[in-house]
Amino acid sequence: MQTTSTREFGPDFVLNLDDPTFVTNPYPTYKWLREQAPVYHWRPRGDAIVFTRHKDVRALLLDRRFSNDYRVWEFAQNTSAWPPEHAEYKKMMDNGLFGLADADHTRVRRLVSGAFTPRAAERMRGEIQKAVDDIIAENVKGDRANLTSVTEPLPMRVISDMLKIPDDKRAEFRAFGLAVIRASITFNKPEELFALIAPMPRWLQMIRELIADRRQHLLEDDLLSTLITAQDSGSKLTEDEMISLIQALITAGSDTTVHAANWALHSLLRHPDQLALLRADPSLIRNTIEESLRYDLFGKGGIPKFAKEELEFAGQKVRKGQMVIPFVTAALHDPEVFPEPERFDIRRDVSQTIAFGAGQHFCLGAALARQELDLVVGTLVQRFPKMKLLGEPEFQPHPIMRAMSKLEVSLG
Ligand code: HEM
Repeated sequence: MQTTSTREFGPDFVLNLDDPTFVTNPYPTYKWLREQAPVYHWRPRGDAIVFTRHKDVRALLLDRRFSNDYRVWEFAQNTSAWPPEHAEYKKMMDNGLFGLADADHTRVRRLVSGAFTPRAAERMRGEIQKAVDDIIAENVKGDRANLTSVTEPLPMRVISDMLKIPDDKRAEFRAFGLAVIRASITFNKPEELFALIAPMPRWLQMIRELIADRRQHLLEDDLLSTLITAQDSGSKLTEDEMISLIQALITAGSDTTVHAANWALHSLLRHPDQLALLRADPSLIRNTIEESLRYDLFGKGGIPKFAKEELEFAGQKVRKGQMVIPFVTAALHDPEVFPEPERFDIRRDVSQTIAFGAGQHFCLGAALARQELDLVVGTLVQRFPKMKLLGEPEFQPHPIMRAMSKLEVSLG
């Protein structure tokens, strides 16, 4: 990986997540920030403070004086002035895991967490392997392939299987998930946001129908049936919370693991020695995935948090409502914690990783994502022993992720 850059770093440097050189290689920027501006004031983003050192990022993720709820932000839009057709979208966001107050967050997470434990993910191994095999059979023909055609359908297929979403509705549910991610960016202008969420009433109606159909035919050992039973047997889960939860699973399931798999494959293909090690010892796959998430995480930075009160953090005064952003991606290359961070080493000690966050909002889907990544990456590298990269990946515009659209390989 490149360690030098032609970019102009210095007092006038302004972070730009859409700069194509940043998208292909953000690491020189992260290095400069960590070393020269570890508390970086991002003026065009409402003077948000960006933290990039591992110790600050981890401490920030664990610090309960910060909230994930965008309504705490000092510049939060007055959503009560929104046109009435967007009221339902607002309700969905307000009832999501990020928006719920601490006690409600714990209650809702507890209801769903049983379906996302490492043991539950292990039980899904056979089903996920079958999905991987089917997708490869459908999409890999001939002696070259675009690997994104394999990685892209998998996570949505898995979460749709978990929720038992009918086949003919899956594409539209995915479109819904992708729109919600793009709409969640705090800096969207109202007119852009409203265009993104215009189809929301139809999508929310689809979720309501999914719930109503399942209520008619409750199933054993089924995530949605468990949630419905919890709702019906008292006030454990409101209908609005259930809709938000389903939305969160679809959203997180649509647009994260796809990119993680692409970058893991890219890292392996660019390091033939490490790829050979993995092929010789497939039991290294779990650590390989963890190292891939550390070495080249798909996010451009991190999920914003907002100060609930005026406070001091890492020697820095923070205003009440000020946005702070823990750049997890930069922290994962902090040499204080990961020596020689720009070396891809699938046997590295990755116990200090924070790729899935930390604390209260630690990724609910971490075990599931790891299982999907193990199986899709593991299967592709073993099944195609001569696989080689064909040129550089191509990217699609994405507000918060370094999202590949093409990762071409030869197979013969
Ligand atoms: C490699 C893939 C993934 C990565 C790197 C990832 C990363 C993260 C991170 C860093 C957070 C914490 C955000 C914060 O601190 O505010 C998070 C939260 C979350 N993730 Fe994931 N995620 C992945 C895949 C998934 C999948 C597949 C699902 C579910 C199907 C999922 C569901 C969630 C949910 C529901 C939350 C919110 C948890 C809460 O607020 O309590 N994630 N994820």
